[in-house]
Amino acid sequence: MNSPTPSSPALSSAVHSSIPVVTIDGPAASGKGTLAASLAAALGFHLLDSGLFYRMIGWKALDSGVPLSDEAALARLAADLRPRFEGKTEEGSEAIWLEGRELSLALRRQEVGTAASKVAALAGVRAALLQAQREARRMPGLVADGRDMGTVVFPDAICKIFITAGVEARAQRRYKQLIEKGLPSNITTLLQEIGERDARDAGRDVAPLKAAPDALEIDTTTLDVAVVLAQVLAYCRSRLEG
Ligand code: DC
Repeated sequence: MNSPTPSSPALSSAVHSSIPVVTIDGPAASGKGTLAASLAAALGFHLLDSGLFYRMIGWKALDSGVPLSDEAALARLAADLRPRFEGKTEEGSEAIWLEGRELSLALRRQEVGTAASKVAALAGVRAALLQAQREARRMPGLVADGRDMGTVVFPDAICKIFITAGVEARAQRRYKQLIEKGLPSNITTLLQEIGERDARDAGRDVAPLKAAPDALEIDTTTLDVAVVLAQVLAYCRSRLEG
């Protein structure tokens, strides 16, 4: 992925590591996206949805017929990715453009998520995206959500959260989200796909899904979004102020 050149490497690296980061990791459909966006808004921080980058590569591979196992081609694709974030979607979130096409909705499709999970298991793809993710660290702070934010991308984050929820609760939440977006969905297929995605994301050799040893773990199976947000916000504020 393209990235700007820092003007003074020594200075910018010191300043860079003092910028606070909150990481939110967890399995598919655990509610991390919603939580991360609400938290970023409450803290006035920037937001990095790292899954989006893997989804863009998955989408591009499906669109251009690149096999999901061709590591060299997919790593090149990741290095050449030039997304634009411009304008708003109908829902009011930032619109995502790739090569002149508005992809905000297409990237949320279940098959794109599955393709993303497959390309994300490749070390070459992950390496090509690392720097671009770290460059999202900007003042006054960043909330980053994904699978390896607290373990690999921002191991020095001041506040780390690991969200879990039972697979059935996650499938129900994802089903509701997809139907609300007008995207086709089937609860039985979803349950199976989420289960497979969990196994792939947690079982891969490189940057597997797991909680950082210093992460606060929250099981949200029976918790309301507002309750989780209040708990996480209080924890992060205490970490940021302490
Ligand atoms: O969070 P998501 O469902 O949009 O992510 C799509 C896939 O991308 C997910 O199944 C695994 C991969 N991913 C990853 O490996 N590392 C990240 N930091 C974020 C996502």
